[in-house]
Amino acid sequence: MSDIANRPAPLDSLTPSDQELYHYVYRSTAADDLGRAEIDAIVRRSGHRNEVFGLTGCLHHEDGLFFQWLEGPRYQLDQIVNKIRRDPRHQDIEDLSYGPLTRRIFGSWTMRSTDRSDGSLTQWLTDADVSTYDRRGYASSVGAFLKSFAA
Ligand SMILES: Cc1cc2nc3c(=O)[nH]c(=O)nc-3n(C[C@H](O)[C@H](O)[C@H](O)COP(=O)(O)O)c2cc1C
Repeated sequence: MSDIANRPAPLDSLTPSDQELYHYVYRSTAADDLGRAEIDAIVRRSGHRNEVFGLTGCLHHEDGLFFQWLEGPRYQLDQIVNKIRRDPRHQDIEDLSYGPLTRRIFGSWTMRSTDRSDGSLTQWLTDADVSTYDRRGYASSVGAFLKSFAA
């Protein structure tokens, strides 16, 4: 395995647009055989790598689905997102939101980990009266739900 690929680009080699603060939110389906121990391992390793890459965020797991908020310099974010998208521990990755951010939401967490016991997205969507067919409403509700864990 190439160690270089696991190192972030030095900030002074990046253009201002590479360094712009960006966020990415997606939903995915966890692999069938993924247990609590594997999820804990993903969170632990992600936290370490995110710290090196200057990324922060939150991973929520509920009913076999993952919902993740990730934020940081655009270049570093894109590098990790490419890895996440190829990871066989989940599939059916659906992009919900990607774009600039004015300030970090999860500045104090390299990888906050939450599940149904912390809060239920299903309940949140029901309370907000959002249908999964309303893609914009769904994406913005998932974003608001994840952001609520930064408080
Ligand atoms: C649901 C999920 C969320 C993940 N989140 C992150 C993350 O926030 N940061 C990270 O570095 N890796 C994350 N990973 C792990 C990456 O997909 C990948 O395994 C890791 O970056 C190491 O990649 P490499 O083995 O190609 O170096 C996540 C994996 C899954 C399945």
